Amino acid sequence: MSTAARPEPTLVGRGAELDDLDDLLSAVAGGAASTVLLEGESGVGKSALVGALRGGTRLLDLDLCVARADPADSRPLALLARAVLDRSAHAAPRTADPGPLGDELAALLVTLGDGHLAPPAPALVQRASALVAALVRHRGERHPWVLVLEDLHQADDASLQVLLRLAHDGAVPRTLVLATMRPVPYRPALADVVTAWTRAGARYLELRPLASRAAVQLAERLVGGSLGPALRGTVATTGGNPQLITDVVQTARATGALVEVGGIHDTPDPAWLPTLDAVVRGRLDYLPAGVRDLLADASVLGTSFVIADVAALAGDAVPDCWRTLRHAMAAGLVQARGDRLVFRHELVRGALYDGLDPADRRDLHARAARVLHRAGAPSHVVGVHRDRAR
Ligand SMILES: Nc1ncnc2c1ncn2[C@@H]1O[C@H](COP(=O)(O)OP(=O)(O)OP(=O)(O)O)[C@@H](O)[C@H]1O
Ligand SMILES: [Mg+2]
Repeated sequence: MSTAARPEPTLVGRGAELDDLDDLLSAVAGGAASTVLLEGESGVGKSALVGALRGGTRLLDLDLCVARADPADSRPLALLARAVLDRSAHAAPRTADPGPLGDELAALLVTLGDGHLAPPAPALVQRASALVAALVRHRGERHPWVLVLEDLHQADDASLQVLLRLAHDGAVPRTLVLATMRPVPYRPALADVVTAWTRAGARYLELRPLASRAAVQLAERLVGGSLGPALRGTVATTGGNPQLITDVVQTARATGALVEVGGIHDTPDPAWLPTLDAVVRGRLDYLPAGVRDLLADASVLGTSFVIADVAALAGDAVPDCWRTLRHAMAAGLVQARGDRLVFRHELVRGALYDGLDPADRRDLHARAARVLHRAGAPSHVVGVHRDRAR
């Protein structure tokens, strides 16, 4: 049979995760209840995975509601109100009408306003929260459904409170609740929700970066052919992060660096790489500034570095430095190897290094030479830093 007519699979390298989630969809269509907490580093493909479930929900005649937490929306209960009231968000509006409770909630939310002018009256928030909780908990009685809560790490506090309360009553009947979140920035209120849902039997799914073969496959799909050595090398620095792989290909294309010779796609001229570095730095905006700055200092030490050395370089006490670096570990940007930390994406390290002010970078190299010399590093390593300090 010709493969030309076969539709291209939407996702690369996520067969196991999709199978898992498809099983849960079938179970919910059969009347079961499930909660899944899908966590993974920025750009790893959480939304793409959730998006790939659409076909399955249609096939199984499940209602689907996708609500995304929006940090710009300061209304109390913004996330969950969107989930239970926005009829357009439902795949099957016939079963989604929230009824009189929904009408009461909508009216209350208007009274509550956006919270900018005055803090909302606690009694009103409490009533609205009770309504939202009831609407979520009883929605499945009309029809089994999938409630996707995207980017829970930036959900409003009142919605997190409701989720906490819902967890105490166990999984939501005839519902698959699927929440996506980044591990950083850490929020105690979210950690409480995750703990409560874990106790209520939620499944925790950590979405890992793509394996190197799948990473190349994704890049090949994006360029529409095989990769030449230079482009393959850049893709290898992405640590299997689909967003970074996409950034590499899109930036190569946008800068005109991507050329095709005999069906091989490559970027022989490296002049586009500083543009790519700037794009990658933009992907780190979500990190607390202290974490980003410390990683930028560490970038001077190379792909892997000793924690005590970066602490000395930054002029921090080791425990303080460690506390900051733990956020970078949670974000999936560095990983521990004994007493060293290793940048997971060389592309990110390079972008941070490239982003340092040249005078600051020279100063950091001079300090690195002193720190490493004192710590007994080999003279050729110290020499490299001295050279770069000039
Ligand atoms: N397995 C995959 N196959 C093909 N493309 C993918 C895959 N995973 C992600 N992508 C693409 O990579 C990009 C980033 O993915 P996505 O937005 O899903 O990441 P995310 O984990 O939701 O990120 P964020 O933390 O920013 O919400 C998107 O363009 C998406 O289409
Ligand atoms: Mg996402």
